[in-house]
Amino acid sequence: MSDVIADESVYQTDALIAEDINKYLETHQHKTMLRFITCGSVDDGKSTLIGRLLYDSKMIFEDQLEALESDSKKVGTQGQEIDFALLVDGLAAEREQGITIDVAYRFFNTEKRKFIVADTPGHEQYTRNMVTGASTADLAVILIDARKGVLVQTRRHSYLAHLIGIKNIVLAINKMDLVDYDQAVYDGILKDYTEFAHSIGIKQFTPIPISGFKGDNITGPSENTPWYKGPALIQHLEDVEVDQVSDQEKPFRMAVQWVNRPNLDFRGFSGQIATGVVKVGDAIRVLPSGKTSTISRIVTLDGDLQQAAAGQSVTLCFADEVDCSRGDVIASSGNPPQVADQFESTIVWLADEEMLPGRSYWLKLGTQMVTATVQAPKYQVNVNTMEHLAAKTLDLNAIGVANLSTDKQIVFEPYEKNRTLGGFILIDKITNATVAAGMLHFSLRRAQNVHWQATDVSREFHAGLKNQRPAVLWFTGLSGAGKSTIANLVEKKLARMNRHTFLLDGDNVRHGLNKDLGFTDADRVENIRRVGEVAKLMTDAGLIVITAFISPFRSEREMVRQMMKPGEFIEVHIDTPLADAEARDVKGLYAKARAGDLKNFTGIDSPYEAPEDPEIRVDTTSMTAEEAAEEIVKRLIP
Ligand code: ADX
Repeated sequence: MSDVIADESVYQTDALIAEDINKYLETHQHKTMLRFITCGSVDDGKSTLIGRLLYDSKMIFEDQLEALESDSKKVGTQGQEIDFALLVDGLAAEREQGITIDVAYRFFNTEKRKFIVADTPGHEQYTRNMVTGASTADLAVILIDARKGVLVQTRRHSYLAHLIGIKNIVLAINKMDLVDYDQAVYDGILKDYTEFAHSIGIKQFTPIPISGFKGDNITGPSENTPWYKGPALIQHLEDVEVDQVSDQEKPFRMAVQWVNRPNLDFRGFSGQIATGVVKVGDAIRVLPSGKTSTISRIVTLDGDLQQAAAGQSVTLCFADEVDCSRGDVIASSGNPPQVADQFESTIVWLADEEMLPGRSYWLKLGTQMVTATVQAPKYQVNVNTMEHLAAKTLDLNAIGVANLSTDKQIVFEPYEKNRTLGGFILIDKITNATVAAGMLHFSLRRAQNVHWQATDVSREFHAGLKNQRPAVLWFTGLSGAGKSTIANLVEKKLARMNRHTFLLDGDNVRHGLNKDLGFTDADRVENIRRVGEVAKLMTDAGLIVITAFISPFRSEREMVRQMMKPGEFIEVHIDTPLADAEARDVKGLYAKARAGDLKNFTGIDSPYEAPEDPEIRVDTTSMTAEEAAEEIVKRLIP
């Protein structure tokens, strides 16, 4: 999928081209802005409502308007002049090419305010689209069909809106014309929704009876609902108070995008100020290191400034030599954000392939990019019933709560407090696709209480005693490829040369350390993670470690490589064609797998991702095990 997600700067602008947006923003600069999202399906009248809002505010371009009028004539619109749904659905069709995340942003304005509405189609992929559209929204309009009342999807939309942190919710009870503007119907729906809203923690919402089709309570009070005393929809959108603390009033934070060091006399840290104001002379703190200094200069392309505020791109210079690099955050020294490497989080899974607990993903939080692994979920939320379900993984569109850890400390704030420093995405390291969006809840205290203990007998000392350089010979290949046989020969040869070795073999480790693991993708990931950690400890002890595991996934082999010192990890692909391994079938497992008596068997119904560029490749069709072992040892000890 595309990795365009939840980024304020990325708009899919099918309603306006960039120039129009600039003109639009200029004209309406003095007005405040409301970003909102509409939630509902076509059946609820969503397209009609959005079309009506755009039309009433004259934000439809003339050529679109013409086309619309003629289309409306074609389909016939029950006595209406224009079918607003045609407008929005027409735009949706234009958009369909090549865009995976189907969120359209439309712009309109009234006398009082300018608006950006994110429209997410209601059908498939709903969670993925809605999370994307909602991530920057101030308000959500939840549409209900008055004839149908509160449905499963109403609950799902409300839950997601609440989860994403949208504080203002409008319950638009639509199609009131089709229930004769009956107050009893409205009251009944209101009662049902109130009960539900409270159960998921929505404290407050604004109900409005409307008809998008007829225009009741859209721009002004409708004569058809004399019993309704509240605001019309547009009035409410104009008047609702959104997040009163503007970005400038929040504490100062800037993520460093790059270190500007043209010569020895100048060193500055460039980035865009996320929140707050910074002045020359201000005391600041660099995170995660926690080092402090004061601002000596604020440099911009147009010269130096005395102060700069949220949204501005600047280069900051410090009074002292303080270490600071890309991805670090510069914050006001008295009120810094937190720093941690273990968290509880909510994760919304956006990829077709399920989440693999223990796999390393890139975690991107603002400009910070680190490696993260997610543990198995504590639970998954059924978004239709809000029930907590036991879960081992998360599938497409699933939402769960899980702990995660990062390989480096990151600067963060709980999502509830700060969407920018609390919201993150996970990216697959091999395909580069965005696989999840998430929200950090809090750091885990255990991370703060466990420290690295410095030991006096170093890994160099251990290796020196054994008179060798530690290494990991990582054998990978199909079951029955000959990994164990060759690994065993290699170990014997090394032992004869007085090398200190240890052989970790798949079948053996699965009898002890890993006896709780099976052969699902997730279990294989965990198998390799643990073996990687053990191999790492053994290299710290100065050993030459030989491992013989199928280790079918590139991601995990790459992860283990990253754990080792450069040059210490030697990937050995025992390359035996599936047909040969199956013909040998030493353990009779291929026969069982073919008969359907053994599930998830590598090469049969579970994948094997061959190494693309291993240090050593052994072609067993042209070499005996003895020759292979000879060659591997020669590579290690020339
Ligand atoms: S790995 O995929 O997690 O790396 P590992 O090397 O530990 O696998 O274990 C593989 C060994 O377990 C095989 O050589 C075989 O003897 C046995 N085995 C049992 N079931 C399976 C299966 N479904 N797929 C592969 N190997 C299996």
